[in-house]
Amino acid sequence: MTSIYIKTEEYSSMENSTPIYDSLYKKKVIVTGGATGIGSYITRYFYEQGSQVFVLDIKKKESIDLVESLPNTKTKIKPEIYYCDLIDINSIEEVFKNIYTQFGYLDVLCNNAADDERHDWEKISSSEWDYFQNINLKSQFFCIREFSKYVSFNNGSSIICMGSISYLNGSTEMPSYTTAKSGIVGLVNTMANILGKKGIRINLIQPGWVMTEKQLSKWIDKKAEEMIEENQLLEGRISPDEPAKLVLFLASDQSKMITKQIINLDGGWV
Ligand SMILES: NC(=O)c1ccc[n+]([C@@H]2O[C@H](COP(=O)([O-])OP(=O)(O)OC[C@H]3O[C@@H](n4cnc5c(N)ncnc54)[C@H](O)[C@@H]3O)[C@@H](O)[C@H]2O)c1
Repeated sequence: MTSIYIKTEEYSSMENSTPIYDSLYKKKVIVTGGATGIGSYITRYFYEQGSQVFVLDIKKKESIDLVESLPNTKTKIKPEIYYCDLIDINSIEEVFKNIYTQFGYLDVLCNNAADDERHDWEKISSSEWDYFQNINLKSQFFCIREFSKYVSFNNGSSIICMGSISYLNGSTEMPSYTTAKSGIVGLVNTMANILGKKGIRINLIQPGWVMTEKQLSKWIDKKAEEMIEENQLLEGRISPDEPAKLVLFLASDQSKMITKQIINLDGGWV
């Protein structure tokens, strides 16, 4: 069995690698957890569309480094960084209000932030359990609620939530995370019912194992490679730009009649 380690740098040359969606030009887009991992690809990809991105993250240095790495051009707008601990609902409310006050109505929300730290079901404390629910599920609801207060009602509004197939694929190493991720299915279904008539679409992407720098350095070893090869129907690995490309499509008018959908981006794992 061949072992393929993918370096994320191989995927870092993204300019012109995605279609340009005219409808995303100058759209105001919030990306939670947009500083690192898949979120940094989402941030970069929206920037390349000419969208105005607002990154909500706790990683200050990484946020600044990402924005500085983007070229200054006349047609593209550098992302704005907002320090926001998504565990703190007051902080979410404050940041959304500040963005609206300064920049006006919003168009797109990508609920991407998460914490997939492994935890033992026999040892996890009540407060640790709550922490994983709060960051992985509760924060998504409150971002949706704040977004819907400041959204531009032009039928181009879209929310994209990042879930995970981990509650479906037999994963046992992070029960509070996987439970929260399964909860996002209910959240997206309910909010699609509530928001559809207001012209706001909401869809859910459930990635399989995505080769971010963090996953590669922390978890992808020989055993993990074998597991991927055994379970994915498609050969190869899912690079972080794959979910980012799907986010763009779901944010754009090319998907304007798509809402309440779950898309597994997992190479056919589940
Ligand atoms: N990488 C994968 O293999 C994989 C698989 C399935 C699903 N996903 C999902 O995709 C999304 C992105 O995953 P990733 O691997 O890039 O995650 P990551 O852990 O690499 O990055 C998460 C980002 O969220 C931010 N964040 C974490 N806690 C925060 C808080 N309290 N407040 C504000 N920001 C916070 C982090 O600073 C970081 O920038 C997540 O929703 C994750 O569950 C990832």
